[in-house]
Formats: sequence, structure tokens, C-alpha cells
Amino acid sequence: MLTIDQIIHQRRSHFLADFSGEKLPDSLIHRLLENAHQAPSHKATFPWRFCVFSGPALERLSLEMVHWQEQQADASSFSPEKRAKLLSYPEKLSHVIGLGVHQSGKVPAWEEDAALAMAVQNIYLTLASEPHAAGYWSTGNGTGSEIMRQLCGFDEHTLHRGWFLLGHVESKRTKAGRPPLEQVILEINR
Ligand SMILES: Cc1cc2nc3c(=O)[nH]c(=O)nc-3n(C[C@H](O)[C@H](O)[C@H](O)COP(=O)(O)O)c2cc1C
Repeated sequence: MLTIDQIIHQRRSHFLADFSGEKLPDSLIHRLLENAHQAPSHKATFPWRFCVFSGPALERLSLEMVHWQEQQADASSFSPEKRAKLLSYPEKLSHVIGLGVHQSGKVPAWEEDAALAMAVQNIYLTLASEPHAAGYWSTGNGTGSEIMRQLCGFDEHTLHRGWFLLGHVESKRTKAGRPPLEQVILEINR
């Protein structure tokens, strides 16, 4: 059994190229969301919102992402490689969780975002305790757009904050790329 320190240190993002294409059980996705829901929130606003895509819904999502890219002002930079990558989502990914943050108006918006990030960290840490399930938070592919908000079924008080892309991996990276701790501690009171 991994200790909490090991889970935190070994937690890594895993990306599309890492995924085998094998599907993860829905029970694990449910566990990820149960654990995400344990995050703290100021004034108990519970601002995190999730929408799970798999199977035919994941196929539709990948097509919507392609369509969104084609509609952008810089659509000319939407390369064939990027298109092929998006179209491979249904085959390579297992599930995608649409991430939203509900604005309660009771606390500053940044606090709702902070709470969502803590919920997403719970997803990351739960995955770190699993040998073959992995993923990462993506803030590309229409993140924040009206079309993606609606696709996720989020109401008008909820902002779309990206995607958690999930897949099965044969083996995991655990090594972290981090600057020395001293670099981020600006002052120590002695
Ligand atoms: C708010 C947030 C947004 C992110 N968005 C993206 C993204 O759009 N694309 C991507 O490749 N990785 C994204 N990541 C994942 C980071 O690339 C990843 O966390 C970083 O490379 C460090 O790797 P580690 O998670 O294994 O420590 C995001 C992470 C966070 C916290």
C-alpha cells in the first residue's frame, strides 16, 4: 500500500501517446468523482461540475472538438496531425470528464476555481494509486467556449474549465520534473 507521501510524489500526468486504448471500468470513474466531491469549498458552495463522456458520446465530443478548431480565427494552423489526434480520442481514450465551475456568487470567482482545482487534484491522486489508470487536465479544445459548456450540460452560471482525459496505461512514469524546493520558498523565518 502506498503512503500519502508516495502517492503525492508519484502522481503524474499521462497523455494520449501513453494510452493503450483499453477501457477503464465505469466503477473507477465513479470513484474518481466520489473522491473529487470530497474537496473543500469556501461557504460550502461545492462548485465543481462534471460531465462524463464515453462510447458514442466520446465520438461526438471528438467531432465537436474538430468542428470547434475549424471555426477558430486561426483555423489555418489546425494541422492534419492535430485533427488526426482529436479523431483518435474515441479509440485511444477511455473516458473524458468535462470540468465545470459553478459561480454561486457567495465567494469570489477565484475561490470557486481553487475549489475545482482541489477536486481535480483528488482525481489525479486517486489515479496515482491505480497501476493502469491515468490521465491529465487539458485546457485546450474549446475550453471556456459556449458550445462546450452546452455540450457538457452545464447551466449558464457554470464556466467550462477544460477536460480530464482518461485512459489505460501499461506502465506509469513516476519521476517528477520540478525545480529545487528552495526556488519556491522565498523566505524562511528563522
Ligand atoms: C490547470 C491545468 C491545466 C492544464 N492544461 C494542460 C493542457 O492543456 N495540455 C497539457 O498537455 N497539459 C495540461 N496540464 C497538465 C500539465 O502539463 C502537467 O501537470 C505538467 O506537465 C506537470 O506534469 P505532472 O502532472 O506529471 O506533474 C494542465 C495542468 C493544470 C493543473
